[in-house]
Amino acid sequence: MHDLPSNVICLPQTNQLEALLTIIRDKNTNRGDFIFYSNRIIRLLVEEGLNHLPVVEKAIVTPTSTKYEGVGFKGKICGVSIMRAGESMEQGLRDCCRSVRIGKILIQRDEETALPKLYYSKLPPDIDDRYVLLLDPMLATGGSAIKAIEVLLSHGVKENKILFLNLVAAPEGIEAVTKKYTELKIVTASVDKGLNDKKYIIPGLGDFGDRYFTLP
Ligand code: PRP
Ligand code: URA
Repeated sequence: MHDLPSNVICLPQTNQLEALLTIIRDKNTNRGDFIFYSNRIIRLLVEEGLNHLPVVEKAIVTPTSTKYEGVGFKGKICGVSIMRAGESMEQGLRDCCRSVRIGKILIQRDEETALPKLYYSKLPPDIDDRYVLLLDPMLATGGSAIKAIEVLLSHGVKENKILFLNLVAAPEGIEAVTKKYTELKIVTASVDKGLNDKKYIIPGLGDFGDRYFTLP
């Protein structure tokens, strides 16, 4: 297990999570199963991410006419997916947060250089007033995530209101993002060994976007 910066949360490596990760890492897993089991992990990530949002005291009265001193979420949220692979995480967020607003940032890695290029962004107009759940299943070199975070900051989002939800991370990507940004949080399901010479995560699971959206 790697020593992680304090702003990186790795989901507990339970038997269940290990089994789900094993299925999606397997090169023989077909697209239907890849989608189903990735969605299971995405749900766990969203649930954990929501645990890191602040709450305020909230008193209610139960049907037994008893006062209950509870809590309610503080502040507004939205999701922002890094297209294309991050779009796979939108439904998991919607399943937990009804009618949540979702912004999009289209960033693609160059196949040869692995450098990210920003093509497009469309974000909720009041995003500077929201907590942002940034969605991308793969954190490899960190280039795409850093570019997406720059876009969010340029729209007035506060760094400490960004929660980056991620399925598989390379230590190189974690280091690149956390060296630059110390106030945001990263929630990941796995920290892998590293990157290969093509900047793919090892052991990883291959190209997430292809496996989720286009492969047979
Ligand atoms: C993948 C992935 C991340 C990025 C991670 O996207 O979804 O966005 O690579 O790599 P990095 O940390 O080295 O930047 P890709 O650009 O391949 O596009 P896709 O979502 O269409 O698959
Ligand atoms: N993008 C992916 O989909 N997989 C990797 O391993 C790295 C970047």
